[in-house]
Amino acid sequence: MSKQNIVLVGFMGTGKTTVGRLLSEQTGMPLVDMDALIEERAGKTINEIFAEDGEPHFRKLEREMVQELASQNSQVISTGGGIVLNPDNIADFEKTGLVVCLLADAETVLDRVRHDSTRPLLVGDKETRITELLETRKPLYEAITHSIDTSGRPSPIPTAQEIIRLYEPNSP
Ligand code: S3P
Repeated sequence: MSKQNIVLVGFMGTGKTTVGRLLSEQTGMPLVDMDALIEERAGKTINEIFAEDGEPHFRKLEREMVQELASQNSQVISTGGGIVLNPDNIADFEKTGLVVCLLADAETVLDRVRHDSTRPLLVGDKETRITELLETRKPLYEAITHSIDTSGRPSPIPTAQEIIRLYEPNSP
C-alpha cells in the first residue's frame, strides 16, 4: 500500500535528519536525506558545490530533487533548510506528503551547529549568520501549515511522536 510522504522542513539545526531517522524507524518508510543524496549524485560535498558551482546551481539541483521525490511516495524526506526559498518546492511536496516545519530559536540552532563546518551559509560569525538568515526566512517557515517548535528540546523523541500523531491520527 502506498502511503503519503512525511516531509520535514525547517532551518539548519532544527533536527530534521535526527527526527527523520526516528520517523523512518517508526513508520518503516525509508529516510531520504536530500543533502546526502545531492552530495552522492554530484560526487562532492555541499561545501564543494557551493564553492565550485555556486548557490544558484545548488538550488537548481535541490529543485530537481524535490520534483523527483514529490512524484514518489512512502518516504520520510529530510530537506535542506533553504527549500522554502522557492514556494514551488513546498507546493510540490504538499501534493504527496505531510509537510511539517521544525522551528527553533537562534540560541538553540547555535547550540546544535556550533562545531559544524559542513554548512557553507554559516561560514564566519555563526551567531550573526544564524540571526540574519533566521530573520529573513522566518515568514517562509511560519507560513507552513504544520509546525513544531523544538527550541530547548534536548530529545527528538517527543517531536517525532507529535508528527506520528499528525500523520496517523487514528494510531493508539
Ligand atoms: C541550507 C541548509 C543545508 C544545506 C545547504 C543550504 C540552507 O541543509 O542544504 O547548506 O540554505 O539553509 P540543512 O538544513 O540540513 O543544514
